[in-house]
Amino acid sequence: MPLTAEELKAHFLLDPEVTFLNHGSYGACPKPVFEQWQRWQADMERQPIDFIARRLQGLLDQARVDLGAYVGAPADDLTFVTNTSAGINIIAKSIELQPGDEILGTNLEYGALDWTWQHHTAKHGASYIRQPITLPVTTPEALVDELWQGVTPRTKAIFVSHITSATALKLPVELICQRAKAEGILTIVDGAHAPGQIPVDITAIGADIYAGNCHKWLCAPKGAAFLYVHPDLQKWVESTIISWGWYPGSTFISRNQMQGTHDASPWLTVPTAIAWQAEHEWNAVRSRCHDLLREYVVALHDQFGTESIYSNDSWYTQLAAITLPAGDYTNLKERLLARGIEIPVTEHLDRTFVRISVQGYVTQKDLVHLSDVLRDELQ
Ligand SMILES: Cc1ncc(COP(=O)(O)O)c(C=O)c1O
Repeated sequence: MPLTAEELKAHFLLDPEVTFLNHGSYGACPKPVFEQWQRWQADMERQPIDFIARRLQGLLDQARVDLGAYVGAPADDLTFVTNTSAGINIIAKSIELQPGDEILGTNLEYGALDWTWQHHTAKHGASYIRQPITLPVTTPEALVDELWQGVTPRTKAIFVSHITSATALKLPVELICQRAKAEGILTIVDGAHAPGQIPVDITAIGADIYAGNCHKWLCAPKGAAFLYVHPDLQKWVESTIISWGWYPGSTFISRNQMQGTHDASPWLTVPTAIAWQAEHEWNAVRSRCHDLLREYVVALHDQFGTESIYSNDSWYTQLAAITLPAGDYTNLKERLLARGIEIPVTEHLDRTFVRISVQGYVTQKDLVHLSDVLRDELQ
C-alpha cells in the first residue's frame, strides 16, 4: 500500500500553512531527494577540482543511464540541461531555417516558448504558426486532424507539448509523431510536465527531439532537465555556450553538458528522485491522485455551472484546468493566496481557469478547502 497523502506531505518541505495546489509551476522536492542534492554539493565543495575536473563526467554518465531507462531513450542520446526552456532554445537556435520555412505549433503552447520560436523563425524570414485547437477537445484523432490543417509543404518541424501549460491537456504526441514521420516532418516535443506525471517512453512516442523537466513532477531539484535528440540529428545541434565540450570528436553530450563552471548537483540527483518515487509506489500514488482529480473536475464544473475543456478524463492526469464562469478574475490568484491557497489562474482565449495540481501530498481536505474558498470569492 502506498503512503497516504497526509503521510506523503510529511516527506516534503512545503509550508504547512499553505494549501499548495501548484506543483506544476516549479515542482517540489521531498526531503530525502533534497538531502541527497545537498550531499552532492558538499561533496563538490570538499574537493572542487577532483569533483568537477575528474569525477563529474563519469558521475553524469551514470545518472544519464538511470534517466535513459526511465524515459525510454538510450543514455547516449540524452544530455542534461537546466530546464525545458533551455532544451527547446538549443533546438530553435540550431535548426537550419530558410526564408519561408514554417514551424508549426498549436495555440496551446507555453507562452515563453512561443517567444523562442517567434524570435528564431523571424531571424531567418521563416514563420512560427500557431494552429488553433478547438476546445473542448473531442478525440485524439480529431485533434491531430485539426493540427494538420496547419501543415503545408513549407512545414519544417512540428512543435507540441506533451502536456500543455495553461490548459493542462495531454496531447496525443504518439499519433502526431507517427503521422509527421510518415510525411518527413521533424517532431519536437515539449515534455516539461510529463516525466513523473505520466509514463514517458520517448522511443515508443517516436519523437525526433524531446525536452523534459525532472524538477516538476519527478520531484528532482530545480535545474534538472534533459534534451533527447535522435542520433541522426545530433550533428546539427549546437549548444548555448561554446566551451571545452567542443573538442575535436566531441559529442552532443559533451557540447551541452560542459558549459563552463556550474552546479551539476541537480542533474546528479535525478537517479535519487527516480528511486524515491519507485520506492513510494508512484504508479499507485499517481492513479490515486488522478481518481481524486477526476471526481473533483466534475464536482467543480458542477459548482461553477461551466463546461469542461476535457471530453473525458484521459485528457489529463494530475494537472487539470477547471473552467471558471465568464467574469473578471483580475487578482483572483492573489485573493486565493491571501486565504492560504497557492494555485495559478490561467487563461486561454476567452476562457479563464484555475489550474489544479494534485501531487501525492494533496488531500481531499485541501480540495474541499479550495471549493469553499472559491464559492466565497466568486460570489
Ligand atoms: C508546457 C511547458 N513548457 C515549458 C515550460 C518551461 O519549463 P521550465 O521553466 O522548466 O523551462 C513550462 C513551465 O511551466 C510548461 O508548462
